[in-house]
Amino acid sequence: MPDLYTVIGNPIAHSKSPFIHAEFSRQTGQEMRYEALLAPLDGFVKAVSAFRQQGGKGMNVTVPFKLEAYKLVTQLTERASMAQAVNTLKFNEGRILGDNTDGAGLERDITKNLGISIENKRILLMGAGGAARGVVLPLLESKPSILVIANRTKNKAHVLHQQFAAYGNLESGDFADLSGKNFDIIINATSASLQDTLPPLPPGIFCNKSLAYDMMYRKKLTPFLEFAQQQGVKYLADGIGMLVEQAAESFFLWRGVRPETKRVIDMLKQRT
Ligand code: ATR
Repeated sequence: MPDLYTVIGNPIAHSKSPFIHAEFSRQTGQEMRYEALLAPLDGFVKAVSAFRQQGGKGMNVTVPFKLEAYKLVTQLTERASMAQAVNTLKFNEGRILGDNTDGAGLERDITKNLGISIENKRILLMGAGGAARGVVLPLLESKPSILVIANRTKNKAHVLHQQFAAYGNLESGDFADLSGKNFDIIINATSASLQDTLPPLPPGIFCNKSLAYDMMYRKKLTPFLEFAQQQGVKYLADGIGMLVEQAAESFFLWRGVRPETKRVIDMLKQRT
């Protein structure tokens, strides 16, 4: 029997994780099966327990269960502890290790796939919800000259700022506070793209060599990337690369082997 893994969420039907991990296991020759598991909104813990009883070795956790997963584990990596959210579970006899590979996925996509260094750059992170919290630590570990967190609800940006203050040079505020500033890398971690809108960015926020990065993805450009393109921004990226890189990081945690990601990213870009 191959080792069993799954992604758990609600909804889950459109998850790309089974495709990505099937490609990874084919490529690395790992004997494993990776499925998708729809858990009832009030049935996460029960679904995890049933999966473990079947002999499941690990899980990816997606919306809306990342906080519940964080509370369920017996051990946390530092990055998951700081993110206060878990997207990867590894089961080992009675123990459940919780990790969060989202931030590392974003960092690898920017630095390795896009070839853009974060070190000494001015970074703007838009949003202060779960998606933003998950990427702050890996971004700061890459030593930007400054990381500014901007959020519609200012206080939530301040809370994140305080939590991560010891890890690097941080500022926080709302979108109006960005007036007169510009950034090398601007990351959209808000859910605005889901509402087909974009955060209220002041003009002049990009410089001509900026990278505009939207953690969301869809077939056409997101409203934020469309705006960036209209402003003449040279480098545009959506969240497909991050999705594949966070999966690769989970795969590495489970199997001790790092899969090649470029071909899988290209395949997904063609399918999306
Ligand atoms: P997620 O887990 O995707 O981060 P979340 O925790 O609900 O979801 O956070 C959503 C984020 O998107 C928040 O930062 C939210 O701003 P508020 O804290 O002010 O609610 C931000 N957001 C959602 N819609 C937005 C919009 N139209 N413009 C700007 N920010 C938006």
